[in-house]
Amino acid sequence: KRKIGILTGGGDCPGLNAVIRGVVKSAIIGRGWEVVGIEDGFDGLLYDRTPRPLGLEDVRGILPRGGTILGTSNRGNPFSYPIEVNGKTVLTDVSDRVVERVKDLGIDAIVAVGGDGSLKIALELMKRGVPVVGVPKTIDNDLMETDVTFGYNTALETATDALDKLHSTAESHHRIMIMEVMGRYAGWIALESGISGGADVILIPEIPFELKAVCNAIEGRRRRGSKFSIVVAAEGAFPRGGTRVVQKKADETMAIERLGGIGNFVAHELTSCLDMDIRVTVLGHLQRGGSPSTFDRCLGSRFGIGAVELIEREQYGEMICLKGRAIRSVPIEKAVRKLKLVDPRGQMVTAAKELGINVGRE
Ligand code: F6P
Repeated sequence: KRKIGILTGGGDCPGLNAVIRGVVKSAIIGRGWEVVGIEDGFDGLLYDRTPRPLGLEDVRGILPRGGTILGTSNRGNPFSYPIEVNGKTVLTDVSDRVVERVKDLGIDAIVAVGGDGSLKIALELMKRGVPVVGVPKTIDNDLMETDVTFGYNTALETATDALDKLHSTAESHHRIMIMEVMGRYAGWIALESGISGGADVILIPEIPFELKAVCNAIEGRRRRGSKFSIVVAAEGAFPRGGTRVVQKKADETMAIERLGGIGNFVAHELTSCLDMDIRVTVLGHLQRGGSPSTFDRCLGSRFGIGAVELIEREQYGEMICLKGRAIRSVPIEKAVRKLKLVDPRGQMVTAAKELGINVGRE
């Protein structure tokens, strides 16, 4: 009989509860193990906080729920933890406490559900002797070594639905509608929702855009009789030769605050070349919330089960992943080496161009 802990770290995303449920069910029903839920990411292993036991009744009804029943935290990096010393915040390595706490609690292994940040922490803890397996999570879909992460599909649905809604009002008012979506350094959400929602222009960080090209594309549409245009801008998009407007990590505040985001930036710039009414929608955290899609519920559940199987086989340091339609695993180390970005010459960008979508270049 084993005792395993599960935690969810970094930004939340739809499908986290499906993973938790998958872990709890497969650990208890098939194996008779004990599961504890570590609250608020790695924070839950600090300062004598006690994880809560998770039984079958605790995961009942959580499958359709967004967020995470365990809570999460962006600041809880035990290798660089903000601690108040004489009124000042000092980043301190408190990983010893985490390692000790895991031992004290008698936890045999931890399932760490997170994006690249949380998985890097998990890997470091692994090196310090904590048996860990990883489950990839992010709406940005920027994790290497898995075809897709859960949460991405739901975020896409939200963004596509928003684009459908913006279309009708854009058309009625003959306006340019700019919608800014999340994605951090990657343009996946912008590109796929833009294709699915019938955007006219898609701006992604992987292809620094030229304002003139965007103006020409919109002007061209107007000449051909379309009096409105829909622009999807990934939050990390930036002008060619310019500085990256957004370099937003959870713990960074950058020029984005000053400029009011890339959506507003593009709107401001477009007024210099187009005489059209422009409105900006920043979709923001709506993309992270809500009930997970069917795809994310199923993938999250399968990832949870896969994580338990990894622990059973003592394949610590591995991350569960999706290859094609099969659940596999890879060393966490390989997955966090670099981010998975859109290939500017790849099929998805080519598809957008074939559909007549401007991607920020002539
Ligand atoms: O990584 C997920 C994500 O939603 C990014 O798309 C976005 O840049 C960031 O997190 C937002 O973080 P926060 O919730 O701290 O504002």
